[in-house]
Amino acid sequence: MTLSVVKFGGSAITVKDRPFTVRRGALRSMCSQVLSHVKRGGKVIVVHGGGSFGHPLATRYKLDRGLISDESYEGVALTRLAMRRLNEEVVKEFVRLRGRPYTIEPSSSFVLEESNIKEYFVQSVEVALEKGFVPVLYGDVVLDASRRGVAILSGDTIASFLALRLKADKLIYVLDVDGIYLEDPKKRPDAELVKFLDRGILEEIKVAAPDSDATGGLVKKIEEAFNAFRGGVKVVCFISWRRKNLLKALDGLNFKGTVIREA
Ligand code: IPE
Repeated sequence: MTLSVVKFGGSAITVKDRPFTVRRGALRSMCSQVLSHVKRGGKVIVVHGGGSFGHPLATRYKLDRGLISDESYEGVALTRLAMRRLNEEVVKEFVRLRGRPYTIEPSSSFVLEESNIKEYFVQSVEVALEKGFVPVLYGDVVLDASRRGVAILSGDTIASFLALRLKADKLIYVLDVDGIYLEDPKKRPDAELVKFLDRGILEEIKVAAPDSDATGGLVKKIEEAFNAFRGGVKVVCFISWRRKNLLKALDGLNFKGTVIREA
């Protein structure tokens, strides 16, 4: 039996430039592909991002800088509420499809130190899996024991952390495009998909990709993926949910996307 950690990217499950808007069809398709794999005996942990729920608030209140003013406290509460709203949407979708989701709140199970994970209560994820649930976690603003007070813990970091800690076989990042490109495929339709991603290509991407969101964007995402790969997660890939690509990746069939490999 295989254990997979799947990150639903915020830009895949929400409309990034429209606040609090879920991409219903995309979310349903991802949940349904996860459940098809689970039905065949696979174990899956789902982690979702913030998209147009978490990011605008985290940015407005500058939460990447920690507790910098009285207003930061309001920002923490509102960002957490927004993320819970999105989590509710994900959980409801799984329930509609007769799945067995079980949310584990990262804000009460992680403590950070200078933005790095210091403590984590992993047992809840293990027991949830053992009892037949699909554990669902998400990127959020969480407590940080250093002077900053709080930090944003991205879903990408949670996904790679859990994949390593629980020795997952696969770590799959679902994006709103088919994988990693050297140029933005939305601006350059002829941009070429990177099929195999190694350290050398990452250096090229660092030069080309702008870091725009609250958690550091594409490069940080790829760094997290490399961490998991170096730590022994055999299949680490970036894909889209379209054309049943997520199910194919989970089931071990040929899929379109970007796969990490060592140079
Ligand atoms: C961000 O999580 C959570 C908050 C901004 C509070 P992610 O960094 O995993 O979100 P996406 O996938 O980039 O939207």
